[in-house]
Amino acid sequence: MANTTGMANLNLTGDDGTVPTEDEVNPWEVHASSATGVDYDKLIKRFGSSPIDSALLSKFETTLGQPPHFLLRRGIVFSHRDMDQILALHSQGKPFFLYTGRGPSSEAMHMGHVIPFLFTKWLQEAFNVPLVIQMTDDEKFLWKDISLETARSYTTENAKDIIALGFDPERTFIFSDLDYIGSSPEFYRNMCRVQKAVTFNQAKGIFGFTESDCIGKISFPAIQAAPSFSSSFPHIFNSRSDIPCLIPCAIDQDPYFRMTRDVAPRIGCPKPALLHSTFFPALQGCQTKMSASDPNSSVFLTDTPKAVKDKINKYAFSGGGATVEEHKKNGGNCDIDVSYQYLRFFLDDDQRLEKILQDYSSGELLTGYLKKELIELLQAFLKSHQEKRKAVTDEVVKQFMTPRKLKFDY
Ligand code: TYM
Repeated sequence: MANTTGMANLNLTGDDGTVPTEDEVNPWEVHASSATGVDYDKLIKRFGSSPIDSALLSKFETTLGQPPHFLLRRGIVFSHRDMDQILALHSQGKPFFLYTGRGPSSEAMHMGHVIPFLFTKWLQEAFNVPLVIQMTDDEKFLWKDISLETARSYTTENAKDIIALGFDPERTFIFSDLDYIGSSPEFYRNMCRVQKAVTFNQAKGIFGFTESDCIGKISFPAIQAAPSFSSSFPHIFNSRSDIPCLIPCAIDQDPYFRMTRDVAPRIGCPKPALLHSTFFPALQGCQTKMSASDPNSSVFLTDTPKAVKDKINKYAFSGGGATVEEHKKNGGNCDIDVSYQYLRFFLDDDQRLEKILQDYSSGELLTGYLKKELIELLQAFLKSHQEKRKAVTDEVVKQFMTPRKLKFDY
């Protein structure tokens, strides 16, 4: 049952060990009760966000003079808060900025983490706006059994992967919480404002904290909220506090921003707008998301071509028939087939994807073909990514992570 804040229960199984019938979606756990994955329509209702409908997609197209990104067109970016207001601002020539982030819990990011960053890059280029990327190494120190030093070193490694996706240094500021907060009085002041505006009871309701959680965790949401306010970055926004923010992320991060939106007017700041994506599923099926803590559930940015081939062939859940005869007779089920689902996230050719959908559903294409297509696509993506990452030196990381003015005037 959702509670009054719209937050799902945090337990995966009930007291009797049975799997709950309601989907779990929160920053720490994603688990669907159905093989087709999370029921995103229900989630929109429970979280109180708005669906991205055809009217909003048309507004994107008229505002930008180009078709919306395929992740939007395919309903992978499926929900929003106040995106219509951001489009209206942009049409009037008024500024806004983008904010997204990464919790560096391991040296290697997986393909699921890449989705919001690829989408954010498209948004940055389409709207030509500044982007701030928060690396929550403090969060990972508080939640995981790792030292501050290790968490900070993961920030650098992850930042290299993010930079290699092609962000523009003149429009992008990446910061480590561990480094930036101590040197930025304005960021800390916004944290304090948020901390004062949220009670422990509210934090428990939103995030499921318990009496035995360390106090660092309980105050952490204020740290993830602060970058939503332009005054946290005086070097970028010339100390203005009124520049609105748009946050692209997967919907697991929404609890942080429901809280932020609730607090914003009380501390005199605009509410951040949001664009939510669905989850890139685990190899084993759509019931859970790809997770860095389970290596066999994920394809990592560091994987070799052989590892990609072996993982997809061995683990990618198939929606095909049990035998070739059965498959040819009844066809495959793309809704639960992980290879097809991955192609939806990464194959940008709409016509090709549609043909695969038709031919697999009719039984003409076998699972082996789908897997081969996916393996080749991922191998090509990773080969190119790994080459670009090699070119990202410590100097380049330093350039992105130095507090500075970007190419925008305010
Ligand atoms: P983290 O590191 O868990 O995830 C980074 C981004 O990836 C999204 N994500 C996924 N998207 C699609 N499929 C998946 N399987 C998948 N797994 C993760 C997350 O939603 C996120 O957008 N606390 C945050 C870091 C953070 C942040 C932010 C994220 C700080 N400020 C602002 C988004 C926006 C975290 O640990 O993300």
